[in-house]
Amino acid sequence: MNTNLYEKLNQIKPTGIQPKFKTVEELRAFQAQEQLKSSELVNKNRSNHFLKKLMSESGIIEKMKTCSFDNYKITNEGQQSALDIAKQYALNYENEPDRGFIFFGNSGTGKNHLACAIANHLIAIGKTVLIDKAFNIVSKINECYSDRSTLSDTDLIRSFSKPDLLIIDEVGLQRKNNNEQLLLTSIIDNRINTFKATAILTNEDPNSLEMFLGFRSIDRIHEGKPVVVNFNWGSFRRGSK
Ligand SMILES: Nc1ncnc2c1ncn2[C@@H]1O[C@H](COP(=O)(O)OP(=O)(O)OP(=O)(O)O)[C@@H](O)[C@H]1O
Ligand SMILES: [Mg+2]
Repeated sequence: MNTNLYEKLNQIKPTGIQPKFKTVEELRAFQAQEQLKSSELVNKNRSNHFLKKLMSESGIIEKMKTCSFDNYKITNEGQQSALDIAKQYALNYENEPDRGFIFFGNSGTGKNHLACAIANHLIAIGKTVLIDKAFNIVSKINECYSDRSTLSDTDLIRSFSKPDLLIIDEVGLQRKNNNEQLLLTSIIDNRINTFKATAILTNEDPNSLEMFLGFRSIDRIHEGKPVVVNFNWGSFRRGSK
């Protein structure tokens, strides 16, 4: 709005109406402020949209989207230590983005809870995370070999290699099979080569993981000096303390 237009508007405005701006400078300052507000809103919407996309592609199930460090209850020392280590892992992630973790131990102790708390934190700072069961990963890749599939195994192996953090859940529940071990090794190998972290959730002892993932996978996971936590208390599902 130029000075003339501002003056004309002033002349035609009904009497008794208090103008919002007394000078052209005030009007310009107001317009600049409004522009800033609207661009902040656009950025916020954009970033909300981006975070929603990261979340929807993460494989985190609805129930676990609310898992956080704050709602992990502490009733024993093991839980406190697991919580501290998980929180520290999340806060330190950007300094060591190739470092993974192995959460192993009893059922219902919060391995998924704390892994999802880590994942939720990383997504909130714009990182890509994928959590999937070992069995699903292998089945998806094996589906590629069917005649109907439009994806190749290389495409899928690549897609599991992409996220900043890949959490392989329920390792040890899958059948022991050389083909599966080879596929998982390819994924883990790609990830190590691109300095990306891989995490393992399992009921098995880390020393017996080799049986399920194969020596080469485990060897690569250890190369990333993972954080290892033993969840050795009773199940939260059964109200154990
Ligand atoms: N200390 C805790 N505080 C709050 N909720 C908890 C705690 N421990 C477990 N839970 C909750 O209990 C349920 C089971 O936990 P979770 O799935 O993380 O167990 P898990 O160790 O992965 O078990 P599994 O080995 O059977 O997969 C989840 O809903 C989780 O949020
Ligand atoms: Mg679990």
